[in-house]
Amino acid sequence: MIGTGYVGLTTGACFAHLGHDVVCADIDVDKVRRLQKGDVPIHEAGLEELVREGLESGRLSFVVDSADAVGDADFVYLCVPTPQSGDGSVDLKHLKAAAAEISAHIRHGAIVVNKSTVPVGSTLLVEEAMNRPDIAVVSNPEFLREGTAVTDFLSPDRVVIGADDPAVADRVADLHRSIGAPVMITDPASAETIKYAANAFLATKLSFVNTIAAVCEAVGADVGDVLAAMGLDKRIGGEFLVPGPGWGGSCFPKDTRAIISMAEDAGYDFSLMRGVLKANDEQFKRVVNKAASAVSLNGSTVALLGLAFKAGTDDTRNSPALEIAGLLLAEGAKVRAYDPAVATVDIDEIVVVDDPYAACEGAAVLVVATEWDEFRLLDLDKISEAMVSRHVVDARNILDREALLSRGFTYQGIGRN
Ligand code: UDX
Repeated sequence: MIGTGYVGLTTGACFAHLGHDVVCADIDVDKVRRLQKGDVPIHEAGLEELVREGLESGRLSFVVDSADAVGDADFVYLCVPTPQSGDGSVDLKHLKAAAAEISAHIRHGAIVVNKSTVPVGSTLLVEEAMNRPDIAVVSNPEFLREGTAVTDFLSPDRVVIGADDPAVADRVADLHRSIGAPVMITDPASAETIKYAANAFLATKLSFVNTIAAVCEAVGADVGDVLAAMGLDKRIGGEFLVPGPGWGGSCFPKDTRAIISMAEDAGYDFSLMRGVLKANDEQFKRVVNKAASAVSLNGSTVALLGLAFKAGTDDTRNSPALEIAGLLLAEGAKVRAYDPAVATVDIDEIVVVDDPYAACEGAAVLVVATEWDEFRLLDLDKISEAMVSRHVVDARNILDREALLSRGFTYQGIGRN
């Protein structure tokens, strides 16, 4: 495994759990040292146990140098970061560097597997960077959600393998045999497109949900009932149908922009996806406008509950909470924030405190941005005492609206008045 981020580390530890011998390499020496001691730096349910199991069984090890990892490997997984570059396209410098680095050490007959989310055509790019015509390069995209990556790997809805040579595809499929999930074998371009199309569709579903919530507010409907009834249609499905402050994370914002960029480079104007992105940016503004409709933001303090991009993770990359905080600060508001899993953010103006009531100290309005369960159990009387005026914008629809109204709060949810 080249790269030990949440994709590489999860994939490596799970493959070891399935009985394979796995060597993980990372350029971060401190990270490798910590992993060698079984100290897992990321919040993933069940991952630390699997890493420890792998270390004890001897099936999992960590090294700094890719050359050591590649040695006599039958499969070399590339799990390096593929971040978004300025113009929305994908920055592939880490992928090219990793491919060039392993080229001299990979043994004849081994297979290179692109696990990172990479644009269509990246298997060709890795082949060129390796310059080893004897080595097959395949696509095996990941469908891991942060916080549930181990479960998503061991019990996936499907395994997708993109390879030109059926025999090569079968060898990669064999790695996953004991998982027992449906295996879809296709060509590399289709496999790479499946990954982007899946994420783009999920983002589209969420932007639709959030815009239907705005329609519900306008016409006086309740988005909870509307979506519940919609979700009973099996073609729609009840999952991923919860309105919020907008979607974020390390994948959706990157992957939606990447598929637009890829399509345009190939001559197709993906205007639908631009609309999906626009609706998401508008959602952040809608949350702030709700706060502004309750109080004059300039000079006021806003309590922000939640910084992570979703509950169950400490990841604030492209977090809607931070988008909202940035807009509040731009309106001249002061922001006091609390998140059970996040202690610091890199926006200095946000005052991060270590309990939800401290965040409400002197606040004119309270905004809930992340759906942590503990926010459902807040002591509303303590909240009321701490605040200078009682206004709530519940961007996750998780607070008890009646309990708030009975205490004299104004309440604004998403799609529910
Ligand atoms: C996503 C895809 O789900 C996963 O398959 C892919 O491999 C990586 O990207 P992740 O980014 O970890 O996973 O988060 P996800 O759970 O999909 O949530 C993405 C965003 O949508 C979050 O901001 C979340 O709060 C939001 N969301 C999700 C909603 O607003 N409503 C929902 O019903 C579900």
